[in-house]
Amino acid sequence: MLTGKHIALYVSGGIAAYKAATLVREFIRQKAQVRVVETAGAQAFVTPLTFQVLSKHEVYTDRFAQLAPDQVAHIELADWTDVAVVAPATADLMAKLATGIADDFASTALLATTAPKFIAPAMNVHMWENPATQRNLAVLKQDGMRIIDPDTGFLAEGYQGKGRFPAPVKIVAEVEADLIAADTTLPLHGQQVLVTAGGTRERLDPVRYLTNDSSGKMGYALALAARNLGAQVTLISTVSQLPVPAGITVIHVDSAAAMRNALLKRFATAAMVIMAAAVADFRPAAPATNKIKKTATTYTLELTKNPDILAELGQRKQHQFLIGFAAETQHLLAYAQRKLAQKQVDMIVANDVSSPHAGFNRDTNEVTVLQPNQAPQPLKVAHKTKIAQQILQLAIAAQTD
Ligand SMILES: Cc1cc2nc3c(=O)[nH]c(=O)nc-3n(C[C@H](O)[C@H](O)[C@H](O)COP(=O)(O)O)c2cc1C
Repeated sequence: MLTGKHIALYVSGGIAAYKAATLVREFIRQKAQVRVVETAGAQAFVTPLTFQVLSKHEVYTDRFAQLAPDQVAHIELADWTDVAVVAPATADLMAKLATGIADDFASTALLATTAPKFIAPAMNVHMWENPATQRNLAVLKQDGMRIIDPDTGFLAEGYQGKGRFPAPVKIVAEVEADLIAADTTLPLHGQQVLVTAGGTRERLDPVRYLTNDSSGKMGYALALAARNLGAQVTLISTVSQLPVPAGITVIHVDSAAAMRNALLKRFATAAMVIMAAAVADFRPAAPATNKIKKTATTYTLELTKNPDILAELGQRKQHQFLIGFAAETQHLLAYAQRKLAQKQVDMIVANDVSSPHAGFNRDTNEVTVLQPNQAPQPLKVAHKTKIAQQILQLAIAAQTD
């Protein structure tokens, strides 16, 4: 998405200015072209030479120094820009942007830039919390600038607080996610896609639960693939250890009942629902309110059936494209075909979880895609990221049929 994009990086005079050097490298790693602007404050922290070498372009520092006699440098840069990124953004530069002051190269060129602007503030927590900074922040948001929120953590001053410069990879990921979401040519542009991921947890008592081996990796890969095709993705997940890609809304749930509630709340407006979670068929009939004690030598647990979420969504389905997963250890295709027919879904992704290349907790998968009135379509062993892309391509093709 960032390949060939013209990124104008504005570095202002905060202690995090040195991290902007890594940010240039990350943008270049994504094959973007980068030009850097430094305020006078920024130059006190990092010399223009550093950014010139990394970006392979002269750094813009002085509004009256014209690089070419036939061009006005700040307008030429503004017109060249596909995306402007202010990182780190000082409280001072934010104040200038909020009021339209143009008294140096950075503020003047930003005022002349019509391309999307991303602002990554970084400062001391008290400067961040100051009403003036918060007021300016609200104005920048109102003016359509995208704010990349500072992290909370250990500050240069030696204490904790909000104001840390986010990791450069996070800034790049947020810029990329935003550009994808704005791209109207993508096939899922603006569509709401719900994806479930992970094994549900069915409470036995306050400290124990029944679950399964699902890692959530397939669901997360599907969420990312849908986002990359332009969808607005909500991931309903039972796992918390996997990184959530930028631009995706995650809702953490535990049990099948909680997952069902989260899905039903959002089902009406969804264009596509991908049920990649491993939902427990049964749950303890009477979960204990206190920890179960080991008083007896045996313990019999009574289970009761969970609602069949996929079948319920199949019944409620109107315009939604519904994708279910069938994880089996035997008679894979027969069971999956039955699921496809009985539950009124548009696609079943069948995977043999006993295979060494496929299933729970692995990075690769090997699946067969079943659709009504079509021959089963096997997808060869591949990384889950690739399998997810292939599944979505098939779903989009079926949607537009
Ligand atoms: C050592 C030092 C560290 C600073 N760190 C920050 C910072 O992290 N964030 C910030 O907003 N201002 C910081 N400042 C204040 C700015 O440098 C100051 O407001 C300056 O006028 C900003 O100019 P600029 O916005 O044109 O770069 C720092 C100042 C000094 C001396």
